Amino acid sequence: MKDDATIWISGTMHNIFSVGQILTELGFKILNIVTWEKTNPPPNFSCRYFTYSTEQIIWARKCEKVSHYFNYELMKQLNGDKQMKDVWKLPAIAPWEKSCGKHPTQKPLSVLTRLILASTKPNAWILDPFAGSSTTGIAANLANRRYLGIDQEEEFLTISKNRKLEIENPKTSATYRQKISGFNDKKELELFLVEEPKEEYKTELNLTKKKGDRLTAVLQNGNNKPC
Ligand SMILES: C[S@@+](CC[C@H](N)C(=O)[O-])C[C@H]1O[C@@H](n2cnc3c(N)ncnc32)[C@H](O)[C@@H]1O
Repeated sequence: MKDDATIWISGTMHNIFSVGQILTELGFKILNIVTWEKTNPPPNFSCRYFTYSTEQIIWARKCEKVSHYFNYELMKQLNGDKQMKDVWKLPAIAPWEKSCGKHPTQKPLSVLTRLILASTKPNAWILDPFAGSSTTGIAANLANRRYLGIDQEEEFLTISKNRKLEIENPKTSATYRQKISGFNDKKELELFLVEEPKEEYKTELNLTKKKGDRLTAVLQNGNNKPC
């Protein structure tokens, strides 16, 4: 990660506390814990607990002292001109998002699009080392950001590739941008992207294929050292 980069990690009550602890031990500064409140959660069939209807997403920055990017104004605009809260009411995944196959824990594009727009600029490189069906990548590309995904399951990489091929059709990508929830109207995302100021990143990406078929990516101006 670059020194001014931020990381988003989603989890549930079963693991989010350990993740927070580890991040703090590694010197990361936790910025928010966003609660994604699903507007249409699946029912709890055991009838022995409250229905699970939330997921937590930790947002943290690598360095205590290096400031991070936050698109405060856009988030405010999306929230009817009031400060965006750390509770996001967004629907669970819709059937149209599974057009290329099913991944058991696929996230909706609405959640990923919001966090990408909040914390990155156009053309930014976004890495998801647990890519699954690459919702992060589809959201990144639909929002004019670059993406690198890694997953150990070939089946999920195939779904990812097909999703990427699907949005290479401009008509499909325009339709998807209109279908993503969390905007005031259907055209808002498209209009925002047209007007968003472009910034050139000078990042070079080296991909190396190592033994055991693992892809290793090195972003030249990033570094692995703690701040
Ligand atoms: C929770 S899912 C990611 C879902 C994804 N964000 C989406 O919306 O489609 C986690 C993924 O990590 C992958 N995974 C787990 N351990 C891994 C490892 N050690 N290396 C690479 N991928 C791994 C799994 O195959 C799974 O697809």
